[in-house]
Amino acid sequence: MKLFDVYPVNDIIIEKALGSHVWDDKGTQYLDLYGGHAVISIGHTHPHYVKRLTDQLHKVGFYSNSVKMPLQEELADLLGKISGKEDYQLFLCNSGAEANENALKLASFYNGKKKVIAFRKAFHGRTSLAVAATDNPKIVAPVNETDNVVFLPWEDEAALEQAFRDHEVSSVIIEGIQGVGGINVASESFLRKIRTLCDEHNAVFIADSVQCGYGRSGKFYSHDYAGVNADIYSMAKGMGNGFPIGAIIISPKMKPAYGMLGTTFGGNHLACAAALAVLETIREEKLIENAAAVGNYLMEQLRTFDKVKEVRGRGLMIGIELPEELASVRKELLQTHKIFTGEAKPNVIRLLPSLALTQAHADQFLEAFAKELSK
Ligand SMILES: Cc1ncc(COP(=O)(O)O)c(C=O)c1O
Repeated sequence: MKLFDVYPVNDIIIEKALGSHVWDDKGTQYLDLYGGHAVISIGHTHPHYVKRLTDQLHKVGFYSNSVKMPLQEELADLLGKISGKEDYQLFLCNSGAEANENALKLASFYNGKKKVIAFRKAFHGRTSLAVAATDNPKIVAPVNETDNVVFLPWEDEAALEQAFRDHEVSSVIIEGIQGVGGINVASESFLRKIRTLCDEHNAVFIADSVQCGYGRSGKFYSHDYAGVNADIYSMAKGMGNGFPIGAIIISPKMKPAYGMLGTTFGGNHLACAAALAVLETIREEKLIENAAAVGNYLMEQLRTFDKVKEVRGRGLMIGIELPEELASVRKELLQTHKIFTGEAKPNVIRLLPSLALTQAHADQFLEAFAKELSK
């Protein structure tokens, strides 16, 4: 059988990984500033993570949500403490799309309304309503098309007010920092406007934190910069450092009912062990503070390059916009300098490294980047 060929891949086989490095099958070392698409939060094969998962696997790997699971409660407790949202409620699932799907559905259960407001260049996942709220017609199949989603221009307060007048809005979904869309930071005033309008119209504010959350921005949720709370936060990627796990946390005003949401795999023993190891390491090694410090350092340094058009982002979620003619820099970083980075557009490099990235790693990247720009 052949693989269903949907990914354009680099001709590299990764066989080993540790911290911010990976090695290919020929023993070549790479610096990983991509983190497997923002997934590696505490570093590859972190010893505490490996131990917690291995120990758990020797006890019990999986049982369904039909029995009590103290690990889930432990996770809810620690997540509440570290994120500062202790009065929220946790629902566990398996991926970012599933988290958003549940968030949009729960919002509609809550207020009985149908319209979802999403924004231009948004990416919320590939499942039914999540993909319908994603601004990329190429990945929306005819069966996913719905007039329940209204797309608005990014940061347009007047358009947002008008949409609330025109529609019975169930929810507004927004990434605190758009990832796939090119690293666009939502302004604090725009997020506050969403909060006010949602309050006035009994709509649900959904903070998609799948890519920009879990400490990556230098705060636990990047939406926190606005100083207002969303009603639901969705998360995945960094939550399990590579173990598939996603979640939503839900405001105390939204009440659960049996059967309202559900999943077979979500919140299983191994997934909880992975997520707990991640949070324990984030706390122990002060990784949110590190993401803020190393991220600020990187952004300051990157802004000194004349050829860089713009540097956008927060913490260790950084977009570097280059002129079109320098679109090959990213390829050279990988091929010549053995540094993985991500791409938003060919001329926008995305940095999404582990939150444990050191300043020495940042300097190694800056040196390679300088060499490429001076060619
Ligand atoms: C902001 C955002 N939301 C949702 C998703 C979907 O997550 P997943 O691929 O885990 O379904 C992604 C994935 O890139 C994302 O960046």
